[in-house]
Amino acid sequence: MRALPIIAIDGPAAAGKGTLARRLARELGFDYLDTGLIYRAVGMKLARAGQDPSAVEPAEHTARTLAPTDLDAPDLRIDEAAQAASKVAVIPGVRAALLDFQRRFASHPPGGAGAVLDGRDIGTVVCPDASVKLFVTASLEKRAERRLKELQEKGLEAIHGTVLADMRERDDRDKNRSVAPLIPAEDAVVLDTSDLDADQAYAVALDLVRSKQ
Ligand code: DC
Repeated sequence: MRALPIIAIDGPAAAGKGTLARRLARELGFDYLDTGLIYRAVGMKLARAGQDPSAVEPAEHTARTLAPTDLDAPDLRIDEAAQAASKVAVIPGVRAALLDFQRRFASHPPGGAGAVLDGRDIGTVVCPDASVKLFVTASLEKRAERRLKELQEKGLEAIHGTVLADMRERDDRDKNRSVAPLIPAEDAVVLDTSDLDADQAYAVALDLVRSKQ
């Protein structure tokens, strides 16, 4: 049986990978998995229970017992969830516990046509045989500007310096962890969206996908 197509999209926060992944999945009729949401769900379960997301045992236990409905929690998009996610993501046992779920989704997507996954280690660890690998990035300054705009549009108070510092801290933790650090796969195409809007980035990505089909 021929393996279904998998599109792996990795990159740092606010580079535009989620928007891109969703649009590609819709265009191609593929299922989409936001893997960051899984790490956020683990981190927030601990934070809600008053536990430190960096504590190894509770984090591993939470990852092993995570239920699909945990991904529906309404607070997974807040900044606290992003930081907690990045902390649990450093723990090798947490990553190992979440690997199977991601791989199963990629090889058996619910719709049966193909899968788009976005995250930090999809092209390097979760789906090293993906048909297309994109590494979507942008300068820290541009990403912080985008995140600030997003927060302001939601009516939330945010300070540019704080958003930038939080993002830098998370980048450093994601890039420097010992297991599955944030780096482009050797065979990934790097797409720098610093000077591209969402439509331009999508056009480049779709061209790449079509060229591999
Ligand atoms: O994509 P996101 O901002 O929702 O991800 C939140 C955190 O989860 C990110 O800072 C690191 C972690 N993460 C990861 O380590 N591996 C993934 N595949 C996805 C997310």
